[in-house]
Amino acid sequence: MTGTTIAPSGLSSTLATVRRISLRLVNVSAWLVFAMAWGQIATAGYGLFAIESMPMTEASSLDAHRTLGYATEFVGVGMMVFLLVAWPRWSVTWPAVTLFAVMLVQPVLQRLGDTAPILGAMHAANALVTIALAFLVARRAQRALSCRD
Ligand code: HEM
Repeated sequence: MTGTTIAPSGLSSTLATVRRISLRLVNVSAWLVFAMAWGQIATAGYGLFAIESMPMTEASSLDAHRTLGYATEFVGVGMMVFLLVAWPRWSVTWPAVTLFAVMLVQPVLQRLGDTAPILGAMHAANALVTIALAFLVARRAQRALSCRD
């Protein structure tokens, strides 16, 4: 719905509050994904520089990256649930759905990267797309919240 005025009484005002809280949670989740994606770049870099002390063949140097990666995916799923409840304007919805799609292909690209390194490279480059989209979602959700004040 795009800013439709709902009579502030009974059930409709409760629904409006629930949607507003959900939109706030979309905003918070998007900032979390934004921060965690930076963390993914840092943990991937750490994994590379720590290869000698913790060989990548044992994957221990990338354990933090894998754990934080799946935690980021988990936050992305939460963001989608909040988005469904908030059902905000299209300007928030499309970047959020695109962000989620980009996040879903991350583990797939990494797995395929073992046989096709170009796809592994796309896994790394995708981090920047994730960061840009998370920023867009967070800012637009924030703007939608201020419009509803
Ligand atoms: C938004 C950013 C990123 C996310 C959400 C993400 C997520 C993930 C996930 C979930 C895995 C584990 C996949 C699996 O076990 O099947 C993984 C593995 C991996 N990622 Fe990322 N990643 C991101 C950015 C990067 C970047 C920037 C690099 C840079 C080189 C990178 C390099 C790797 C590598 C080498 C592995 C394999 C680790 C292993 O041997 O198990 N990732 N990533």
